[in-house]
Amino acid sequence: MTEPTHFTAGNTPDAPRSDLPGLLQALASDLREVGYTLEGVAELLGESAYAALNRDQPIPALIATEAAAAGEPRTAALAAVVRFWLLAVPQEAEVLDGALPRTRAEGLAALGLAKITGTEVAAEADLRPYGWDAGRNGGVEIWVASDLAAHQRPGVLRHDHVLGIGQASTTLVQTTIRRKAERALDLGTGCGIQTFHLLQHSGHVTATDISERALAFTRFNLLLNAEALDIDPGRPAERVSLRLGSLLEPVAGETFDLVVSNPPFVITPRTAGEAAADQFTYRDGGLPGDDIVASLVRSLPDVLAPGGTAQLLGNWEIPEGSAWDERPQSWAGPDTDAWFIQREQVGPEQYAETWLQDASETRDRRHYQEAYAAYLADFASRNVGGIGFGMVFLRRPAGERRIRRFEEITYPIEQPVGPHLGAAVERADWLAAHDVSAAHLLVAEDVTEERHQRPGAEHPGVILLRQGAGLRRTNLLSTELAGFVSACDGDLTAGQIIGALEALLGGTEGFDGGAFRSGLLTEVANLVRDGFLLPVGPG
Ligand SMILES: C[S@@+](CC[C@H](N)C(=O)[O-])C[C@H]1O[C@@H](n2cnc3c(N)ncnc32)[C@H](O)[C@@H]1O
Repeated sequence: MTEPTHFTAGNTPDAPRSDLPGLLQALASDLREVGYTLEGVAELLGESAYAALNRDQPIPALIATEAAAAGEPRTAALAAVVRFWLLAVPQEAEVLDGALPRTRAEGLAALGLAKITGTEVAAEADLRPYGWDAGRNGGVEIWVASDLAAHQRPGVLRHDHVLGIGQASTTLVQTTIRRKAERALDLGTGCGIQTFHLLQHSGHVTATDISERALAFTRFNLLLNAEALDIDPGRPAERVSLRLGSLLEPVAGETFDLVVSNPPFVITPRTAGEAAADQFTYRDGGLPGDDIVASLVRSLPDVLAPGGTAQLLGNWEIPEGSAWDERPQSWAGPDTDAWFIQREQVGPEQYAETWLQDASETRDRRHYQEAYAAYLADFASRNVGGIGFGMVFLRRPAGERRIRRFEEITYPIEQPVGPHLGAAVERADWLAAHDVSAAHLLVAEDVTEERHQRPGAEHPGVILLRQGAGLRRTNLLSTELAGFVSACDGDLTAGQIIGALEALLGGTEGFDGGAFRSGLLTEVANLVRDGFLLPVGPG
């Protein structure tokens, strides 16, 4: 793989530099030595200040680190680094020189991470530890640079803001089904968060972005963490290709086994004569309404290898009087496996408030009023009554289409949910290839039954099957389905159990055996699809 010529330099203006390998190595060593790790920061701040900081509330951390910065030298050094980056408090150059002796304040400035004014050094970018449990590969811990966030800087965010690791980033990380992939694509990479994870299970990752600064941050992060991410710093192109360009344009004609994208899906009112520079690139793809998500759902299958999957997050508009999935249904091509899960739905007002707050556009009252009104007028112009948020799974089937599901799940689900989604896809494939009635079924380990009945009643009025793990579904059972489930010990086939139930419950006048069997079999297949019942044995 060759790295495209348009992105090799590592010295993009106004972004961290990645063409200074000696300094990058020095920085990694300094950060490790000063204990700037997830555990080190958590210990320094204490539980409540750490939790507050994770809510973007820096005050308790400021208080906690003030005393530490004047304390014992090792703790003081870490406190200085935490205050400098996480809390964006300028530090004296000599303090940073002591805390990061190989890099020093001058090195930070050379890397584009700091600005020195006299003896004072201010952070030009955020740099923070980030880690995850990589299962059998143990834990991975890295440092991730991004632009300073709203709570770390004054005023409205810069329009070419490079997003750090946010809630949506981790939602996609947790949602991704992590199969081994030869070639993966991270569309709209930002600081590179999805790419770091993809590198754990993909031979090669292509990361794209419309923002040159975003690609520069990603390149910096990849090289600063080359060892942890298993990248040869001398030949990064062997594992990662960074491409500048819009949507699928930089990868036209190529195919991937896995695509992930946390795209700039935030719906934004368009104004006459607006320039790309007026848009918040990190969240706004520049198109009207939810066109960016519609366009990706339509076009992503083109870059999928047969059997390849794409997962993305998105917003969709719900016109007044329409079902939430009417428009998403129309985007998903008839030949593509599609699974949409709507996780949340809000009204236009709440949507406007969330996204104006996100870019600190609430700080100027007049601007806030105008921007809020523009949002409402924009939604009204398309008769939008609600906005949905959710996750999208697409697959280019290797054979026939097997999955087409649009559902709403708004309660808390188990995280990471990716492995559970992966298991659900496997079950859908199994169902397509097998005759359920010939299968021996077992009740899944996490499933419990709940019966509710009126006091004194002879029979339960409601029987529920509940799943403890994954999507935590609940299924309302008919008496015969409850009877079926209770007989699922793997001994008899589904067909045999249904036959036994028919013998037990049938025989009354008007009983339709055929309808009974096929109705029950459909319900049983649904329980298999949703993971309440699992087939035993080969196949
Ligand atoms: C919401 S951020 C996601 C960043 C990161 N992947 C994550 O998961 O946090 C969206 C990214 O898409 C990029 N972007 C915006 N418009 C784009 C376009 N038309 N084509 C490709 N990327 C785009 C932005 O620069 C930004 O980095």
